[in-house]
Amino acid sequence: MAGDNGAAGGARPRAYLTRALPEEARQVVAAACDLAEWNSESSPVPRDELLRAVHDADGVLTLLTDRVDEQFLDAAPKCRVVANMAVGYDNVDLEALTRRGVLLTNTPDVLTETTADLVWALMLATARRIVEGSDAIRANAWGAWSPMFLTGYDVYGSTLGLVGAGRIGTAVARRAQGFGMTLCYHNRNRVPALEAETGAEYRSFERLLRESDFIVCLVPLTEQTCGLFGAAEFAMMKPTAVFVNAARGPVVREADLVEALRRGRPWAAGLDVFEREPIGADHPLAALPNATIVPHLGSATVRTRTAMATLAARNLVAALTGGKPPNPVNRAANQAAQTSEGSKSR
Ligand code: GLV
Repeated sequence: MAGDNGAAGGARPRAYLTRALPEEARQVVAAACDLAEWNSESSPVPRDELLRAVHDADGVLTLLTDRVDEQFLDAAPKCRVVANMAVGYDNVDLEALTRRGVLLTNTPDVLTETTADLVWALMLATARRIVEGSDAIRANAWGAWSPMFLTGYDVYGSTLGLVGAGRIGTAVARRAQGFGMTLCYHNRNRVPALEAETGAEYRSFERLLRESDFIVCLVPLTEQTCGLFGAAEFAMMKPTAVFVNAARGPVVREADLVEALRRGRPWAAGLDVFEREPIGADHPLAALPNATIVPHLGSATVRTRTAMATLAARNLVAALTGGKPPNPVNRAANQAAQTSEGSKSR
């Protein structure tokens, strides 16, 4: 039906933004679409409101706090594109979108270096007990310089084991060269470019866990990686190991990690992500001095979050105006969206 997607017959497509975005990104959408949005930067749109608001939308810009599933798609019968403002898209039922010919886009690349910096911040802060040290001063617990007071473990010269060697893993590995580290990695497939550039050696998962001083998890959350790190894996780690998770919380069995940290193996953990976010002071990890915990800050710089929002906006607008979205996730759906000429291809 001409006009159904708003792009045919000269009508502007309708876009819904599930959060207040940086003005630069908002303008990209406003220039090409009739815009509706949830007007809060800090609170996700309530589910009922979301399902009501997407009814007329030809495209929706989502965040990782929005669940995009069959119910969402039923509520958004005209939707041809979901532009997720994140590189990860485990909040989206990709199979359902693809089946209905709805395009999914994400925001890779723009956050790679920023997230790699955060991984390093966690490695250094955890290994050198930065938060504990800061807390000690604030609690008037710094008695005197003492030989073994708040001693940690060296980053320089140690062994880094990367679990997941995509863009961010590769950026982490590059930084490791400046710290004189021995590098190894485990990944679904070997990555010859990473090996050639950084000298990283491929290891089985088990060998990597046993041999690494720092184990950094950067795998996407999938059925295969859900619960990848549990009691058995933590027990294989060195008692001096530092475990870092900057991927997704459910890749780790959190109750097992809490127990493992209580026992001191691994020695400590630096965590950016959690099984159920957000967490607060009552979470068991918050009571553990050997857990350095931050609230999903991987890509959180002004420049990078603005770039992510703007890229998501560009993906949305391109898909709705017959252009070529820069970051299609399900290419078949992209073609369906581009050839639908206003009729839905479900
Ligand atoms: C953040 O976690 C992202 O996937 O971009």
